This record gives sequence, structure tokens and C-alpha cells, in this order.
Amino acid sequence: MEEAKQKIENLRKEIENWNYQYYVLAQPVISDFEYDQKLKELEQWEAEYPEYYDPNSPSQRVGSDINKNFVQVEHTYPMLSLSNTYSEEEVTDFYNRVKKTLNEDFEIVCELKYDGASISLIYENGSLKRAVTRGDGLRGDDVTSNVRTIQSIPLRLQGNDYPNFFEIRGEILLPWAVFGRLNEERIAAGETPFANPRNAAAGTLKTQNPQIVAQRKLDSYLYALLGENLPYNSHYENMETARKWGFKVSNAVKKCTVLQEVFEFIAYWEVERKNLPIATDGIVLKINSLRQQANLGSTAKSPRWSIAYKFQAESAETKLISVDFQVGRTGTITPVANLEPVLLSGTIVKRASLHNEDIINKFDVHIGDLCYVEKGGEIIPKITGVNKEVRIHIGEKVRFVRYCPACGTQLVRPKGEAAHYCPNHSSCPPQIKGMIEHFVSRKAMNINAGEETIQLFYDEGLIKNVADLYEIRREDILRLERWKEKSANNFLVSLEASKKVSFDRVLYALGIRFVGETVTKRLVKAFPDIDRLMNATYEQLIAVDDIGEVIAQSVRDYFSTESNCELIRRLRSYGIQMATEEELLTEKTDILKGKTFVISGVFSEHSRDEYKDLIEKNGGKNTGSISAKTDFVLAGENMGPAKLEKAQKLGIKIINEREFLAMI
Ligand code: IVH
Repeated sequence: MEEAKQKIENLRKEIENWNYQYYVLAQPVISDFEYDQKLKELEQWEAEYPEYYDPNSPSQRVGSDINKNFVQVEHTYPMLSLSNTYSEEEVTDFYNRVKKTLNEDFEIVCELKYDGASISLIYENGSLKRAVTRGDGLRGDDVTSNVRTIQSIPLRLQGNDYPNFFEIRGEILLPWAVFGRLNEERIAAGETPFANPRNAAAGTLKTQNPQIVAQRKLDSYLYALLGENLPYNSHYENMETARKWGFKVSNAVKKCTVLQEVFEFIAYWEVERKNLPIATDGIVLKINSLRQQANLGSTAKSPRWSIAYKFQAESAETKLISVDFQVGRTGTITPVANLEPVLLSGTIVKRASLHNEDIINKFDVHIGDLCYVEKGGEIIPKITGVNKEVRIHIGEKVRFVRYCPACGTQLVRPKGEAAHYCPNHSSCPPQIKGMIEHFVSRKAMNINAGEETIQLFYDEGLIKNVADLYEIRREDILRLERWKEKSANNFLVSLEASKKVSFDRVLYALGIRFVGETVTKRLVKAFPDIDRLMNATYEQLIAVDDIGEVIAQSVRDYFSTESNCELIRRLRSYGIQMATEEELLTEKTDILKGKTFVISGVFSEHSRDEYKDLIEKNGGKNTGSISAKTDFVLAGENMGPAKLEKAQKLGIKIINEREFLAMI
């Protein structure tokens, strides 16, 4: 027993150290493979000795428990905000104010201002006790189980010189790369992309399922230590010490004594920040001495010993040429501004989002206006305003369209939403093409047909919906210009292969609004075949983890539309998977009632025992030898010749495994 405890403890320590090297120092010391092996070993030991369970074990980072509602927790010290400055003059004013109040020498620590979600972490006896969001500054949400999944946050500390009880604050960040991928997924799923990594990080922290948090690969930087028995009387030295305990503390810090050094730091990072993997929006200046901090004090909103210097958001000014209204695959109408090309953070921008009707009206946008363009979260350019001072002659006012620019249907704007939709989902051309493109995409049915092919098939009248794809014949394609035997083959083979694509991907492929990859998985788990999903009530849907009102309603709307049900009926008739594999194998029916089977030979899709099981589950009977009472012989490879002859003589139907599976 003691030995097991020791073993588990050693493994935990070893893995914690590797985590620190990898996630905090960014200096991996072992291969991913070795790491995974060690983690597996630890998991095995822990499974065998559950009495040594520890929520802070590195094995617990994947997250498992679902916490529907966050508990509100009061902050020991209020989480204040910082007053913002935008110019060197304002920074100079701050410096002079501090100098006047303190009337002695002081040091200023310059740090980066990380643009994520702020977090307060409580450690007791070297273990993470609680993680709380900022909330309203006085009380926040307890998001401990989500924070536990963040690899750069130590669950247990290194060394032994930390106070028994302390708080450390910092920022939870979603790296740019993860942000980009996440938004691609959301766009593919017809969901609204996150505007910037800060929203994405905050949204992720509030996700009800820690497993999703774990997948998103959040990161952290810690920047403030609070408590009674801190190691030093100064901020900079305390943070250096916290780094030794295992926290990710940025190296982008500088202790300054004169203003010139502060300005140098600002000038350097104003440029260099663009090379960082995470978002920053300014510099934070802090008086280093804790005694001097206390002397300066705080207002109700922000400390007097610290300010933020905000970077200018990169913005450009350019002329609005025209506005297009684009129709997305789920019918969302996006107003897109066509602009005179302009250089913005290193790329030429010609088009930018004009958001929605309310914003167009608020900006009072006219054709020919000089507009401000910014990169939304530095990725999707957006119009952020209009320079009205330089309007020479006013062009036509931009008005949101009332009818779908593609099909002419009157648009709808659901209550409480900012977006307009074209409700003609079944015959609006860009929606149809968008739906089909989504259906064939790699993560969905993986059919070999690009945008141009879909357009061509559509224009030629071959397809009007996704089910039509399965009606396309070789001769239909070979008639088309530039289509040869080889390309036709590629398409048809991939079409055939798509019939084996698993049910969760089929469901994703249907392109139901708000049903992306993650939601699909949740739905399939709760409703493992299409009939159950189609019959699920709104209440049954919202009872599923991570399925909220909006998603539940969208699923209901989809399945209560007759054309969608017809589509599914057709897809099913072409052999598309409409249930999970497990479901097919465990479902009980009486399809084979009264039928007697003899199994013979070797099978490839399932074992003999599995086939016996399937026969019984579906109401049939297994017998060992062929007689006049046998209805079917289920024949695999190498069926004995004597049996074959007997079956043939008695006129018994011989079927292969594919035929059998089709029967059930
Ligand atoms: S110190 C009392 N340091 O900015 C001041 N904050 O506008 C405590 N932030 O809520 C904050 N980087 O979320 C500090 N290096 C940094 C920071 C930082 C980002 C955020 C933090 C805070 C907000 C204030």
C-alpha cells in the first residue's frame, strides 16, 4: 500500500515537472510519446488505488465533471480595473502625480497588458484551491474545474517557500492559432465566430463542460501576487519568486527608474507584440514597492499606483465604393463593404464587414464615405465608423435590403437578434450551394467535389439538394465539359465511400444551424439514431449537456420542416448511416421473428458470435445444422462444401454478411 502511494506520488511529481518545463518554460525535456506513456501509467495506478485520489493530480487535467451552474464567490481583495492612458503625456502625468505624492525615489515595473479573461487563483498549502473570474469585481464565478484543465497553471507548487495561503492573479488567454482554428470550425458550423481571443477565452472559461475547455488549449500569464506573508515587499521580486513556484510569469518585464526607460519599453513592444502568439492591448505600469502602493492607495475603481497605456488599435481610413449583401449557407445576410484597397497591419484590405442593420444606421453610412477599418481581433476586417468631417458630397445612404438579394424572398429578423435571414432554405441558390458544399466537405461526408463542381452540377440541373448527389449517374457527368473518365470515377468512388461515413458526421453534414462538431457529438450520444433525434422534444433536447434553448429550437425547427424530413428519407434510402454503429448492433427488433438461421464460414465485418447475437436480438433463431426448417444460411468465406450442397438441395436461401446486415 505505502509503496503504491509512493509510486503515485513520484509519478505525479515527475509529470508536474515535465508540464512546467513544457507549458511554462516552453522547453520540453521529453517526447510526447514518453509523456503520454507516463501519464497512462499514473492513470492506471490511480485507477487501482482510488483511495489516493487527488483533484490536483496531473491526470485530472482532462476534466470530467459537468458543472451546470457556477457558484458565486466573493473576492478577498476586490478585483479593480486600471485607468487607461493613450499618450506619452498621460504617462508623464501619472509619473509626476506619483512623484509628488510619494516624495521619494520609486521604481516602475512595466509589463505587457494581456488581452484575455482575468482570473484569481487561490492556493492553500501549495495546492490550487479555487479559481474565480473577475465577475463584477467583488464577486465572481467559481470556474475551478475549467481552470484545472489549463496546463500552464500549476495544480501543486514547486519548492517550499510559498505562503500557506495566497492569491495570484493573471489573465487566461486563447492563443491566436487556436482562435483561428476555433473560428473556422464555428463558421463551418454556421455559428457566429468569436470577435476576438478575449471573448473566446472568456466564453471558454464559462463553458459548462471542462472537456471542451481542455480541448481549447487555453494559456495563462500571472501578474499579481496578493496575501499576508509574501516573500518580498515588492511586486517585481514577488513575481520572480512566483515563477520559481511554477507559475507562468512573463519575461517581458522591465524595472524602470526614469520615464525614458518606460517610453523605450512602450516603443519596443508596440512593434514586437505583433510577433507574440497571444493578444496584448497595451502596457501596464506598476509602482514596484508594496509599501509605496499602499501609500498611494486606490479609488473605488482603480489603484493610484498603476495605469495602463493602451496601444492604438490598427486602423485605416478608406473610401466606401459599394455594399454587397451576402447570403450564407444558413440564410444569414451579411452586409459587406467594398472598399478602395488600403494597407492594414501588413495586408491589403478591399472588403470589410458592416455587421448588421443597426450598425449601418448608427454609423449613418453613405456610399463614398471615408470609413475606418480595423481588423476584428486582427483577423476579419470590419468597419468601425465613418469620418463625417470630410464628407464633401454625400452619396446614397446605405439601406439594409428587405428582400433576399439572391432569391427575392422577404427577409426575417428574429426577435432579439441583430441579424437578418432569408427563410427560403430549400430553394435559395446560395443557401443550397452552401449547404451542399458543407455536406461534401472533408469533416462531413468527404465527397470529392469542390466549389466549382457543385456550381457546375447545380447550373446543369443535376442537383438541387444534397440527396440529389446520390442520383448522379456516370453518364450525367461524362456529358459535362472537361469531365473525363478519371475525374468522374474519383467523384463516384468518394460518393460511394460516403455511405460508410459515421452517423455523427452525417448529422454534422446536414448543416443544421448551430449544430457544429461538438454539438453533434453531444446529440448523437443522447440520441443514437435519426428517428430518436427527429422525435426528440424540445425538453428532451435541452436536457442534454451543452444543448441550450437556441440549439434545441434550431434542431426542432429543422426536423419539423417537411422538406428536411423528405431529404433524410431519401438519404436513408441511398444507404447513408442514420444510426451509430453501436446502436445498430444493440437495437432489438423482431424483423427476423420466426426465421431460423445457420451460420457457416468466416466473416470479415463481425465475428460469428456477434452475428449469432444479432440474429437473436432481432427475433431470429440460431441452429447448428441445416434442415428443411432452416430459412437462411448466413455464409462467410470457406463455407464447408457439404453444408453448401445440403442447403442448395433443400432450396434454402444462402446470404452473405452484407445481405444479412441489410436485412436488419
Ligand atoms: S494588474 C489593480 N497587470 O487588465 C490592477 N492587469 O484593465 C490589477 N491585465 O482586470 C491588474 N494584463 O484583467 C495587471 N500585466 C497586467 C495585466 C492586467 C492584463 C488586465 C486585467 C485587469 C485589466 C485592467
